[in-house]
Amino acid sequence: MSSDQPVPVSIQRLLDVYPSFALLAGLRLEVFTRLKGGPLSAAQMAVALGIEPERLQVLLYALAAAGLLEVRGADLFANTAEAGRLLVKGNPHYLGGTHALWAQLWEAGLRTADSLRAPLAKHDPAAMPPAELAAFIEGLHPDALETGAALALRPEWAGCRALLDVGGGSGGMSIALCRAHPNLCATVVELPTVAPLTQRFVGEAGLVKRVEIRAADLLSQPLEGGFDAAVLKAFLQTLSPSQARQALAKVAAALCPGARIYILGQGILDDSRLSPPEAACFNIVFLSLYPEGRAYTESEYRAWLEGVGFAEVERHALADSSLMITARKK
Ligand SMILES: C[S@@+](CC[C@H](N)C(=O)[O-])C[C@H]1O[C@@H](n2cnc3c(N)ncnc32)[C@H](O)[C@@H]1O
Repeated sequence: MSSDQPVPVSIQRLLDVYPSFALLAGLRLEVFTRLKGGPLSAAQMAVALGIEPERLQVLLYALAAAGLLEVRGADLFANTAEAGRLLVKGNPHYLGGTHALWAQLWEAGLRTADSLRAPLAKHDPAAMPPAELAAFIEGLHPDALETGAALALRPEWAGCRALLDVGGGSGGMSIALCRAHPNLCATVVELPTVAPLTQRFVGEAGLVKRVEIRAADLLSQPLEGGFDAAVLKAFLQTLSPSQARQALAKVAAALCPGARIYILGQGILDDSRLSPPEAACFNIVFLSLYPEGRAYTESEYRAWLEGVGFAEVERHALADSSLMITARKK
């Protein structure tokens, strides 16, 4: 091959998916949690797992090659600092609870080509088996908490009393915002199949007096007004354009003049449809999960928002590289 021929750099990078599978297996087997007390050998861990040590060792070396474990001495394995902080169950920053959702999303991604005709890994909260629904909502919870905590740092919350959290899932956004702002109360509107899960998370957070849960379909049931802020995280992206417009009209009608709306989640693109690249690529997963849901562009959000009475539409880049759209009701 002559030196001016393209080399498969991008292709090779894209084919390196196996560390992700090792991570998923490590979390499913709670490898990192088992190592929280110090290094162990494959043989020591294999007993509790009922797995042959030689087979477990393959996974442990893969996790070490992936940068999540360190090999100490003769076949002893220890968590790296990152794994010890983020992948050990019970630690406050534990990310691993989301692994069942990762598996759902990766399986959806594997079905992309066929899902172009019709979604083959549907996320329909009204019809999903309870265990899958719980994994979906529980998997979203850590990110909802983190996103809510980051949003809570914005100065405008000081004057807010009544928050509307539409399609709030676990209620994580409301929980984080209410924790940060003692004068704030929230109402989470969720489908009746999801509302009991929301109730559980809100109860565990000790916020039942400040976070109300309304079991309702926003698109077909009435929504009383009086809110002075609304958050819609990963909600409009699950709807068709006409449903998204309809949902925004309902939210607008429920907000007081001057109230702000915050639209967040993976499915927000700039008008190039290429950026953020994570959102442009994750957009294929929506094809498998929802009949018409997808990432929408800044211009689409702007047109919908202005069409239902919002002004000051702005796009913000967040620390996790996703975008947020905000607007103010006239
Ligand atoms: C992708 S999840 C996002 C959950 C949460 N906002 C988060 O980011 O963690 C979308 C949520 O919207 C809810 N949802 C979808 N359609 C709805 C509707 N018509 N009315 C109320 N909630 C709805 C679903 O039940 C689901 O929990």
